[in-house]
Amino acid sequence: MTTTATPYGQDNFGFATEQVHAGESIDGDAGARITPIYLTAGFVFDSFDHAQARFNGDDGGLVYTRYGNPTTAAVEGRLTALEHGVDSLLVSSGQAAITVALLGILKSGDHFLSAPSLYEGSKTLFRENFARFGIEVEFVDDPHDIDDWRRRVRPNTRAVYGETIPNPKNDLIDIGLIADFARDQGLPFVIDSTASTPYLIRPLDHGVSIVVHSASKFLSGHGASLAGVVIDGGTFDWSRYPDKFPQFSTPIGGAGSPTLTEKFGRTAYLQYTRTIIAGRLGPVLSPLNAFLLQQGLETLSLRVAQHSRNALTVARWLEAQPEVASVDYPGLPSNPSHAIAQKYYPRGTGSVFGFTLRGGIGHARILIDALELFSRMSHLGDVRSLVLHPGTTSHAHLTEAERVRLGIFPGLVRLSVGIEDEADLIADLEHAFDVLRSGLGSVVVPATREAAAERGVAVGLPLSA
Ligand SMILES: Cc1ncc(COP(=O)(O)O)c(C=O)c1O
Repeated sequence: MTTTATPYGQDNFGFATEQVHAGESIDGDAGARITPIYLTAGFVFDSFDHAQARFNGDDGGLVYTRYGNPTTAAVEGRLTALEHGVDSLLVSSGQAAITVALLGILKSGDHFLSAPSLYEGSKTLFRENFARFGIEVEFVDDPHDIDDWRRRVRPNTRAVYGETIPNPKNDLIDIGLIADFARDQGLPFVIDSTASTPYLIRPLDHGVSIVVHSASKFLSGHGASLAGVVIDGGTFDWSRYPDKFPQFSTPIGGAGSPTLTEKFGRTAYLQYTRTIIAGRLGPVLSPLNAFLLQQGLETLSLRVAQHSRNALTVARWLEAQPEVASVDYPGLPSNPSHAIAQKYYPRGTGSVFGFTLRGGIGHARILIDALELFSRMSHLGDVRSLVLHPGTTSHAHLTEAERVRLGIFPGLVRLSVGIEDEADLIADLEHAFDVLRSGLGSVVVPATREAAAERGVAVGLPLSA
């Protein structure tokens, strides 16, 4: 591909300019303004010697789409710029991004620490699949207590993990505090920033080492495709800990050859994760899906600003309803995470949150079935508003006691608020609450905990609360 330089190349553009221009190139032959979809498995070598040079990485050119593709590379460049990183790797889903990001660091026999509130799919991946690889996860009890993190560090601890805005409880962690702890311990801090996107927070600016996203959500935005991304901040000094992370300090081609950090400097981790982990395990992103992601990224700031505005309006409205026991939205002053939200998320706290109905699962069922504009779906970050009952879906595999410990009460409803007109969203909720109120005869809210226990009714709050 011959390319023409575009105005992009400075580093002083605002977010909206970057989301449209960063990483772009213009195809010199056809003049296509948007990086086209290069749907090709591989790339032609001019000669015998050219093939050898490409395999040797001599000219940095393309070999095979599993290792790189022009469409994918353009989107990776844009994500690197948006997150203030040094390099990015796109893969087939968010789960693939989390997996390859951690396998770029961890090996059998290693242990890593995690914040307790995570996407349930990540928890089962860590507890079950990673355990089968001989990698052990340990969840801290209180992520705000650095002593809790510190006393769990072992000689084989190799990473720290967390999420920016965990769903559905939105119990925010203090990213800078945990980043300082990880740096002191010589551990890379990996964070899943799916629910926040770089528009709301750039975790690398707060000392995080590596960012992952499910790009299937807000980054793509339109619910049409899956994708995942790993973004390297280039700040973690792997060569300082050769015993902990030997993959970066071992000569690549045997004695006398350079190590990964000597050859690639600040992008050593991403190079390793791209070629040795993702390149071999193979969760490659289709260039078609990379193109769809590129289209989504161009309106990211507009969408996320509207998502956050709508979510705050909906959260405020829900908080005023007598049937609602609590709303887990950090943008509300009443929320325990409000101070952290103000510190780290001045642009808003996204649009995926839960609220708990006093009437328990009975009320959740009526309300969810009565909604018309909200789609009943296991997805989030879509332009459309979505609704889910975590207790009987994403968290159904847990015991009742585990759910209660996580705050997944029978009356908990999760929303992913879209970009529709807020008046229409409120009208849909008003209608659903009217249906709920008119049906109170069939689903009676017990007046006291004792009365509820006597009748064995599942109420919105745990009976022990
Ligand atoms: C926070 C978070 N991380 C990762 C994932 C997994 O992403 P994907 O569905 O693209 O594999 C999800 C999916 O809901 C998520 O919410």
